Amino acid sequence: MSNIVIIGTQWGDEGKGKIVDLLAQKADAVVRFQGGNNAGHTMVVEGEQFISHLVPSGILQQKKCFIGNGLVVDPAVLVEEIDYLSDRGIDLGPGILKVSQKAHVIMPYHRAIDHAREKKKGANKIGTTGRGIGPAYEDKATRRGIRFVELIDPEMFVDRLNSILDEKNFYLKNYLNAETLAAGPIIEQYGQLAERLTPHVTDVSVELSTAMKAGKQVLFEGAQGTHLDIDHGTYPFVTSSNTVAGNACGGAGVGPKDINGVIGIVKAYTTRVGAGPFPTELFDNIGDQIQAKGAEFGATTGRRRRCGWLDMVILRNAVRLNGLTGMVITKLDVLGGLDELKICTGYQYNDTKLEHFPANLNVLAESKPIYETLPGWQEDIAGIRNFDELPQNTCKYLKRISELAEVPIDIVSVGPGREETIIINDPFK
Ligand code: GDP
Ligand code: IMO
Ligand code: MG
Repeated sequence: MSNIVIIGTQWGDEGKGKIVDLLAQKADAVVRFQGGNNAGHTMVVEGEQFISHLVPSGILQQKKCFIGNGLVVDPAVLVEEIDYLSDRGIDLGPGILKVSQKAHVIMPYHRAIDHAREKKKGANKIGTTGRGIGPAYEDKATRRGIRFVELIDPEMFVDRLNSILDEKNFYLKNYLNAETLAAGPIIEQYGQLAERLTPHVTDVSVELSTAMKAGKQVLFEGAQGTHLDIDHGTYPFVTSSNTVAGNACGGAGVGPKDINGVIGIVKAYTTRVGAGPFPTELFDNIGDQIQAKGAEFGATTGRRRRCGWLDMVILRNAVRLNGLTGMVITKLDVLGGLDELKICTGYQYNDTKLEHFPANLNVLAESKPIYETLPGWQEDIAGIRNFDELPQNTCKYLKRISELAEVPIDIVSVGPGREETIIINDPFK
């Protein structure tokens, strides 16, 4: 038995969806454990692209897919996604797709508050995805949230809604200058969604425990990335959940002893969507070239992703925070054609060399990356499937990353397609 957590090491969009889809081949179940439909995970199979926001990326392999208690779920988006994937011939019946009864529900006022707050903040906005993620986690923490178990009980749902809607409307109208919401349409819409989703609602923790006792292999699929983590990321420019591997336990309902490995997905360069510090960001034509070749547009909001060099300060942070046992380097093909590549090995802050990521954003803003330069390669590597066939300079780049991170590279991804992959060490072996 082997259960593996897959997380993003940077600021999201590292290619988690592709790798989860690939590794799901050998897994029996895939579980999302945090976040919501702020995530956009892309899978490309036989030239066809699929993007999922809530449904775990094991779905194309038709493995059991669980949405854990750690998520905030917009039921309308979930139903849309079930319909979108079903229309493409994928089975998302209640035997395949299961939602935790303890997952929290994103309500229309969560989305409305998210939008209105960002608007009010103006230039100081976080650049959220506008999906209501923060406000939903906020209600969970203040014990005013609505869980799936209440959503599917009409009486409890109406009670909960009535106990909170006045306060939300007061805040929307008087503080945020936004439209208020009426209970009637919410009760009707959510009632219909509840009916559709009831067969999928279950005790995920119990189901996972039964599967693991029977020797099944489970993949835990992270969303966002380590530096968007509410505790460890570039706070307040973060998402509202713990994205690190440790939260796979809390957000799925399993114990730490159930986890056997933690794989960090590392984009061969760095991207970030939304506001917040980004020390290795490029503002020149190399940044534009990477953005264009890597097609760096957000899978959820379509926003242009900011691009920069690989940053080992943040990668080492991710190694420690997640306890990485292996790494997957993605989008290596995108770096082909550049004369030289830079890797940030530390930050210079006045007279001090920082080796660890500072929590103080003013210190971070004044820190300058210290770079090491490596030779680039001109070859197109997208067709390569064996590590030994990679150009010498590509191998040098990979070896240096592994050396600096002190973690082995298990897989290298050289294109968006499932098969555009070089397996060095199978994590499920
Ligand atoms: P996720 O949020 O971590 O699942 O990543 P996204 O799906 O948001 O963004 C990754 C993007 O890169 C998607 O468009 C993928 O299809 C694409 N992609 C993944 N791996 C590779 C790769 O190795 N090479 C290239 N060129 N594209 C890749
Ligand atoms: P995946 O799983 C990249 C970013 C938003 C914003 C911040 C807070 O596809 O890697 P939120 O809506 O969560 O309150 O926004 O977090 N963000 C992501 N950036 N990839 C994601 O997910 C993200 N999910 C949230 O852009 O900066
Ligand atoms: Mg994404």
